[in-house]
Amino acid sequence: MKDHEDAPLAGVIGWPIAHSLSPKLHGHWLRRYKIKGWYLPLPVAEDDFEAALRTMPKMGFVGANVTMPHKERAFALADETSAIAQRLGAANTLVFDPQRGICADNTDGFGFIENLRETRPGWDATAGPVAVLGAGGACRAVVAALMDAGVPELRLLNRTKSRAQALRDEIAPGIDVRDWSEVEEAVSGVSLVVNTTSMGMAGGPELTLTLQNLSPAALAADIVYAAGGTPFMKLAQSRGAETVDGLGMLLHQARPGFERWFGRAPQVDAALRAAVTGQGA
Ligand code: ATR
Repeated sequence: MKDHEDAPLAGVIGWPIAHSLSPKLHGHWLRRYKIKGWYLPLPVAEDDFEAALRTMPKMGFVGANVTMPHKERAFALADETSAIAQRLGAANTLVFDPQRGICADNTDGFGFIENLRETRPGWDATAGPVAVLGAGGACRAVVAALMDAGVPELRLLNRTKSRAQALRDEIAPGIDVRDWSEVEEAVSGVSLVVNTTSMGMAGGPELTLTLQNLSPAALAADIVYAAGGTPFMKLAQSRGAETVDGLGMLLHQARPGFERWFGRAPQVDAALRAAVTGQGA
């Protein structure tokens, strides 16, 4: 048992957590780098979140990922917060520091941009306008990261316009909020279009776009993952565009946490994708 005594613990806290890919992801890196440590799925209901969080550092946890529905609460309970976590009002990566306490960061936007850069090396944020569809939590991180990367014009469209306006006012005052009815026109001339809506998700509403104005030179990103591609990605591919999936965003957002908890900067590669999806590399 002695072997386990100083092995750092980390995990992902959510409710529900059964479908999280994070334990497979971090488990792969722990094995690959031969690191003595553990990464666990931690199902914690909303009412129990604070008590669980405050107990974890006393149980050998060095940090955690936080997912739905706890990201805002994790931010609010933290002792120290990064600038981007403050801007988003939400945290996905926590470090438990003996001196500083609970330190909260948000790496979702970092993961999104790093995934674009992996897919298209030399991807240039300043190359042209970008259209983003949606206005939920993940959308906020994507919009902030794109604006920070230098996108010259960001068109934000959401079915409920007031949510897009609130996002603009809270996160990125310079963006261009348009009516959902203008979605096809808004895609015209963009270098990147991002779908953060639930349209086309398994069990979600039908995808009602045509992307008829999408340039074949554009990149199209979905922030969810489906084996074989999402309906949005398939539609973009039918217009000749290159696509990026949400799995890459998940893999890259995990890098900073792993490095802080386990002391090694991990690689995102085909073997990791295979380990996480259960499909051959
Ligand atoms: P989150 O959990 O990230 O907040 P959500 O609230 O489930 O996401 O919202 C999913 C997104 O898909 C929202 O932007 C939603 O638009 P509304 O804000 O108007 O609800 C969008 N969405 C869901 N169904 C849609 C549909 N049929 N057509 C267009 N957008 C849709």
